[in-house]
Amino acid sequence: MSIIEQAVELLQRGELVAFPTETVYGLGADASNSAAVAKLYRAKGRPTNHPVIVHLAGVDQLSHWASTVPEAAIKLATKFWPGPLTLILPKAEHVLDEITGGQKSVGLRVPSHPVALDLLRAFGGGVIAPSANKFGRLSPTCAEDVRNEFGAEVALVLDGGACAVGIESTIIDLSREQPMILRPGMIDQSQIEAVIGPVLVAHKQESTASVTRAPGDLASHYAPTTPLQLVTADELRQLAKSNDAQLDRTAVLSLSVAPGCCNWIVADRDPELFARALYQNLRQLDKLKLDRILVESPPRDPHWEGIWDRLNRASAK
Ligand code: TXA
Ligand code: MG
Repeated sequence: MSIIEQAVELLQRGELVAFPTETVYGLGADASNSAAVAKLYRAKGRPTNHPVIVHLAGVDQLSHWASTVPEAAIKLATKFWPGPLTLILPKAEHVLDEITGGQKSVGLRVPSHPVALDLLRAFGGGVIAPSANKFGRLSPTCAEDVRNEFGAEVALVLDGGACAVGIESTIIDLSREQPMILRPGMIDQSQIEAVIGPVLVAHKQESTASVTRAPGDLASHYAPTTPLQLVTADELRQLAKSNDAQLDRTAVLSLSVAPGCCNWIVADRDPELFARALYQNLRQLDKLKLDRILVESPPRDPHWEGIWDRLNRASAK
């Protein structure tokens, strides 16, 4: 039996199967099996009102999961699927309330990782897959991170190597009157607007507190355990020059300032490469168990929107 056949059989039996996507690893369960859904929420430690994304093998499955498929959804799916974009649409009648957090909408996405697509095609149905981390922690971007976090709680971890995108999908809500980006990602606002015209952006339009449906609306989402702070390049230069004892107790993710000490990672200045390595870099710095992690603020550029969002959340108290 192939590993994909094993994975399908486990999903059919209501077990949890972790698998790679191009963004981050997902913890998968059969979207139509209430017991499997409950098992997944328990394993993740996720509040039951926090909805999950249903992963599909192809755009042709959209109309099975959504009660209406607006033209904007077809346009975006045609342009970006398979790929790192999640569409929120009005849910079809049969969609379990447990996976939508009781809302009338459902999150849908066709991932582009070949292993994810093999699994989804072989399974046939929808697979809910939150990022394969315990609630509030950093998302995993390699199979080993998943095994370390879940151990025997997960029946099988499909290993598809390191994730190419590195941060979670862009989420756009098409169930409201005007489309709204709920979670920025590596497909940015301008790329979306080029396809469907002007969209709203949740964190720009509303205060965080009022975005009840927005993902990761809780502080310290996507966070390492070491306190994280965003700083300027100048502040890092100052720090590098000091021979302060603090320097030894500080981990740094820098973009432009060369290493002051061994606790210092210099990341790539290309946003795609920065995102790809971001969670691995933060995990590595977190493991040092120092007093703090300082991250150099990236450029204020549309290509860095998704990265800014994750860094802001990681630095939230
Ligand atoms: O890249 C990704 O999207 C990864 C991979 C595994 O596909 N998945 C992921 O899932 O990041 P998760 O559960 O960690 O984050 C999904 C977010 C949640 O924070 C949730 O609030 C939001 O999607 N979401 C899901 N359904 C929603 C809905 N109906 N309305 C609003 N937000 C929704
Ligand atoms: Mg997550």
